[in-house]
Amino acid sequence: MPDDLAPRIPLDRLGALLGPRGLLTDPGDIAPYLSDWRALYTGASPAVARPASTDELAALVRLCAETRTPVVPMGGNTSMVGGATPDESGRQVIVSLARMNRLRDLDPLDMTMTCEAGVVVKAAQEAAAEAGCLFPLSFGGEGTATIGGVLSTNAGGNTTVRYGNARELMLGLEVVLPDGQVWHGLRRLRKDNTGYALRHLFVGAEGTLGFITAAVLRLFARARETEVALCAVADEEAALAVFRRFRDRDETAVRAFEYMSGTGVALYAKCIENGVVPIPGHAHYVLVDLASSRPDAGLRGLLEAVLEEAMEAGEVLDAALGESDAQRAALWRIREEHPEAQKREGASVKNDVSVPVSKTPELIRRASAACARLIPGVRPVPFGHMGDGNIHMNLQQPEGMEGAAFLARSHDIMETVNEVVRELGGSFSAEHGIGRLKTDMMESWRGGAELDVMQRIKAALDPQGLMNPGKVLP
Ligand code: MLT
Ligand code: ZN
Repeated sequence: MPDDLAPRIPLDRLGALLGPRGLLTDPGDIAPYLSDWRALYTGASPAVARPASTDELAALVRLCAETRTPVVPMGGNTSMVGGATPDESGRQVIVSLARMNRLRDLDPLDMTMTCEAGVVVKAAQEAAAEAGCLFPLSFGGEGTATIGGVLSTNAGGNTTVRYGNARELMLGLEVVLPDGQVWHGLRRLRKDNTGYALRHLFVGAEGTLGFITAAVLRLFARARETEVALCAVADEEAALAVFRRFRDRDETAVRAFEYMSGTGVALYAKCIENGVVPIPGHAHYVLVDLASSRPDAGLRGLLEAVLEEAMEAGEVLDAALGESDAQRAALWRIREEHPEAQKREGASVKNDVSVPVSKTPELIRRASAACARLIPGVRPVPFGHMGDGNIHMNLQQPEGMEGAAFLARSHDIMETVNEVVRELGGSFSAEHGIGRLKTDMMESWRGGAELDVMQRIKAALDPQGLMNPGKVLP
């Protein structure tokens, strides 16, 4: 849009619509909304709108459509790709859904819960647990990220191997469309074959097609037995072999299977308070999490039997088993604090990529070697969701190198990793989405018919291009 056509938002009308609690215009109040968790971007915005209901949001969207005001939806602001950060123009209004945080319904017979977009993921887990059920989506940012955000980005996390991504946990949606219409699609049906599956269009669209305001989520039986083990493994192939052993014995038991490099585990011990590693000094680790809703599942027996076999085969070198909830949480902390440890150590480049599960060892080896050739001394910190093929192929700056100089090579690093990912039949974005960071990769990875259809969908739903501009599509 030419500059002269871009109008300024009528803040007085917005204020009248949303009331004093619903609109922030003071620069000090707005500041925390202007940059992303990774501090990759800092944008500008005239206001943060905080609607309290779907009707208020719909009226807000109609006003923005009328005045051609671009909007940036925001949940917990935990995007890894700048997906909720406004640009620098100062024209984009941030719309935080934090006040829309009611649990509208929970039905333990239907095994569904209906949450508004601003419900924090951890609160959703807790509400499900109180009702004797399980909402299984789980990842490091769950204490801050919101239901609207995780659906808009189709978040994955640690339990994808068993329960799928956010998309698979969603049955119905309520959406405010870019013209201000409300689509009431909060159906809680397991079967509903009625034309195009519209709800799936909004999941993963990162707010570029409308605002998800509420969702019907699937619940599962709560775990009555759990086991967690940290295992030192011989190498990347051994890590995968151990996964296979567990899956072959009892596919339903594996709730998470996470890989960690020795470098990442050592960074945890170095950078995180009370960062204790019970079996330090190894080059490769896996974290195995088993869970069953059966009270007599015998998971300890399964765990010990598999570890014994794997030790005999030379795959597992040592293991620490969680003997209590506190110990199991402490083992998980080693994995969960990886992003924070990397942040504290200095500059790092993230590569959230996926390959077929069978190719994860090759990905880790080849991408690490290619990056070491590109930047001598670089510290590869691959970790993540090996059980679903999503490895965070992250790189830490070489010791002694300036952070800024390292980050200036981000593009080269991502290209280097992506080259390997492409050869292995993988994806350049597994679970973090595209946001602002990866829009320039869309053409080369999804160009042709796929991107053409995406652009036509965008144009059909949001012809003025007001919904989260500059994200997802190049
Ligand atoms: C995680 O699984 O911890 C994050 O998605 C990975 C990251 O910070 O790169
Ligand atoms: Zn992850």
